[in-house]
Amino acid sequence: MEYLKDRIRKDGRVEGKDILKVDSFLNHQIDVALMNAIGEEFYQRFKDHGVTKILTIEASGIAIAAIVAQYFKVPMVFAKKTESRNLDAETYESSVYSFTKDKTYKIRVSKKYIQETDRILIVDDFLANGKAANGLIDIVEQSGATHCGVGIVIEKGFQDGGKILRNKGVNVQSLAIIDRFENQKVIFA
Ligand code: G4P
Ligand code: NA
Ligand code: NA
Repeated sequence: MEYLKDRIRKDGRVEGKDILKVDSFLNHQIDVALMNAIGEEFYQRFKDHGVTKILTIEASGIAIAAIVAQYFKVPMVFAKKTESRNLDAETYESSVYSFTKDKTYKIRVSKKYIQETDRILIVDDFLANGKAANGLIDIVEQSGATHCGVGIVIEKGFQDGGKILRNKGVNVQSLAIIDRFENQKVIFA
């Protein structure tokens, strides 16, 4: 998606050797027009899959997934990372290891919001090692619903997540795939 890549070239900031900061349009301030272009693009790529629900993980997936859901005209559900008293006792749970934070956390979705008949499109902002996406797939599988694929805004192609998911037969569609960083510049695959 050229429009997105141009925006990453212009406003993305490379930090250290493997982190891309996109706070000015995706992770802190949000460019809603860009989110709409992303929503439309995912709709074009997955419209023939009979998607009934969009699933993401809090926090930064929510804004994207909400707009994607608007294009599909289906509900959006996000997995929660925090244990909440209000969350139903009946939940699907999975464990996710975060490399950036070096810790494992639990994600949960109430059983009320995923049905066996659902066809679920998973959406997230970044794909790095794929642990978050794997946790979401695990939850969909526990529920007996079908996952139609994973839509990612920015895939870091030099980390293993994309390869692992595609090797498992998951339909991963990434709108921008980063091959590497060179002199603080983003080189796309
Ligand atoms: P993984 O899920 O693919 O295995 O990723 P990893 O554990 O390495 O990353 C943990 C968090 O950092 C995830 O957000 C992920 O989206 C985000 N992330 C990974 N690489 C980058 C990057 O280069 N730039 C930015 N901006 N984010 C990156 P999270 O823990 O789910 O937190 P949240 O921001 O959604 O609340
Ligand atoms: Na995320
Ligand atoms: Na994030």
